[in-house]
Amino acid sequence: MRKVNFNQRLKRVFLCGVIMGAAAGILITVLAAGIVINKKEAEAESQYSKLQQTNEELQLQINKYDASHNNLEVLAGNEDGWALALVNEAHPLDTSYAPAEMYEVESERSVDARIREPLDRMLSDAEAAGLSMYVASAYRSYDQQRTVFNATMQDWINQGYTPLDAYDQTRQSVAVPGTSEHATGLAVDIISTEYEALDDRQGDTAEQQWLMEHCWEYGFILRYPPDKADVTGIIFEPWHYRYVGENAAREIHEQNITLEEYLGSD
Ligand code: DAL
Ligand code: ZN
Repeated sequence: MRKVNFNQRLKRVFLCGVIMGAAAGILITVLAAGIVINKKEAEAESQYSKLQQTNEELQLQINKYDASHNNLEVLAGNEDGWALALVNEAHPLDTSYAPAEMYEVESERSVDARIREPLDRMLSDAEAAGLSMYVASAYRSYDQQRTVFNATMQDWINQGYTPLDAYDQTRQSVAVPGTSEHATGLAVDIISTEYEALDDRQGDTAEQQWLMEHCWEYGFILRYPPDKADVTGIIFEPWHYRYVGENAAREIHEQNITLEEYLGSD
């Protein structure tokens, strides 16, 4: 009797062991599967977000490519629209672009010949008003823009900035090569002979005061006004004027907006 009980107990213990072992096995398998599934899900999510990022970057490149071609078409247009090309960091211009016909407004300072008349008129009216100024920069090819950009970046590096920080500082005042509207031949840097530094105080000169007040009458705008860097991407440049045509210049002046805002660009 005692032997039977012992055997039965042994069987029960054995059975319990088997059942518990199996249960533990199932539990471990389920837990392990859960961990694997979670890991796979995390991997899939990370791959998805990487793909999304790549997709956004590609879309940005496609948009820039489209903008670059669109700018070529706009600049080649016959109607007044040619003056409304938008060139900025998000809207580059083909690196080989040069105006079909150039006009040398001053020695080694050329512009698109289509702005010859309004530019000359603005400069001579300013002179007649007793002011003294000159065109310090006009059309710049891709290579010339690269030279300006690199020189400015080197200045920042010489002041102790890391190359990355120097790049970021530079692009706020010098457009990244391929994205400068100087390459359109429609932009000019005009500076006072009384004060030639390219800083905010340039804006206090009588020359800039006159230009800021009257440039729109000749179809020009102050392209990078103060407090608009968040829109234009460029800090206040009291010397940089851009031809956009008389109608656009009047509206931009009256509404105190930028070319980006006028064209409804984001
Ligand atoms: N300084 C202006 C932004 C240019 O480089 O085009
Ligand atoms: Zn400029």
